[in-house]
Amino acid sequence: MMTVLVTGGAGYIGSHTCVELLRAGYKVIILDNFSNSKQEVLHRVQSISGKSFKCYQVDLLDSMEIRRVFVENNINAVIHFAGLKAVGESVEKPLAYYHHNITGTLNLCEAMQTFGVRRLVFSSSATVYGRNTCVPFTEEAPLSATNPYGRSKLMLENILHDVYKAHPQWSIQILRYFNPVGAHESGHIGEDPLGTPNNLVPYVAQVAIGRHPYLNIYGNDYDTPDGTGIRDYVHVVDLAQGHVKALEKSKDDAGINAYNLGTGQGYSVLELISTFERISGRQIPCKIVERRQGDIGESYANVAKAQRELGWTAQKSLEDMCRDTWRWQTQNPNGYQVKKKVAIRH
Ligand code: WQD
Repeated sequence: MMTVLVTGGAGYIGSHTCVELLRAGYKVIILDNFSNSKQEVLHRVQSISGKSFKCYQVDLLDSMEIRRVFVENNINAVIHFAGLKAVGESVEKPLAYYHHNITGTLNLCEAMQTFGVRRLVFSSSATVYGRNTCVPFTEEAPLSATNPYGRSKLMLENILHDVYKAHPQWSIQILRYFNPVGAHESGHIGEDPLGTPNNLVPYVAQVAIGRHPYLNIYGNDYDTPDGTGIRDYVHVVDLAQGHVKALEKSKDDAGINAYNLGTGQGYSVLELISTFERISGRQIPCKIVERRQGDIGESYANVAKAQRELGWTAQKSLEDMCRDTWRWQTQNPNGYQVKKKVAIRH
């Protein structure tokens, strides 16, 4: 049975990916510093999958602790989610973002090299397409960054290309997520942002349950049909299954590839809101305000390469995303409340 180390495995996308890995028969080891996740998630992943797994509370800035995880486990591959990921926060704290995201990844790759682990699936983001206007974005589109978070992702993609040049036996799959939303159909795991959500869908869900009186719509003067921003929302379970596909791809051949994980279909803010209102039966009061700094008008994926090379296509609709978000939100109005401690290794 193949053992996969999942860094950031207690996070939103990480936990959904662990469920899919366990379902697919992989042995999972979670490494997480719990700076943006709760241990309750581990219990939920265990109860959904019916499988047990080890979890290490480790920070990727502690290279000795990373080594210990590799010493104690026969790791065959790594899926690397762990990192800081809030665009706005990255503008205020660039040093923290570069330190955690870059140094943490370097420590991880050095441990992989030391222990002969050559298969890596790396969590990147559509944000590396910068202020491109030529949608849908293909993987060959020009890359740029407009904030330290996006720049850290772009720098890491370049670093991984250099690692592959030096070690052509590695298999590195770079996955560029568009807009991950939704939750597992059980309603047991979902997005649990710390504080007030920056992203649209969790904020809309919190308006729907009455945690906020209205939603601010950041601009309705974009060059789009209804003037509001268009994004490629992709269900987090589809995204998780895309990681399993990328892992399978890394089994066969060495190489380094980037793949867009999106649906290829863009929806505007107003379309998202009306879908959420229909699914939840709740009104979402809105206020049009000025554009948010750094936002672009349209972002959606050309998904042909992931379909062709990974055999992956998103299956879930915008309605599914809203329905599963709403179920998670109503079942967990205050996010993860600790019910049961799960043994983790310190
Ligand atoms: C979506 C649309 C907003 C909030 C970000 C990161 C990206 C990735 C996903 C990490 C836009 C509008 C939003 C609100 C609004 N994160 N909006 N009111 O900005 O496309 O992507 O999250 O990898 O790197 O950049 O997602 O959900 O913040 O915004 O009107 O309160 O909703 O203007 O058009 P975004 P988002």
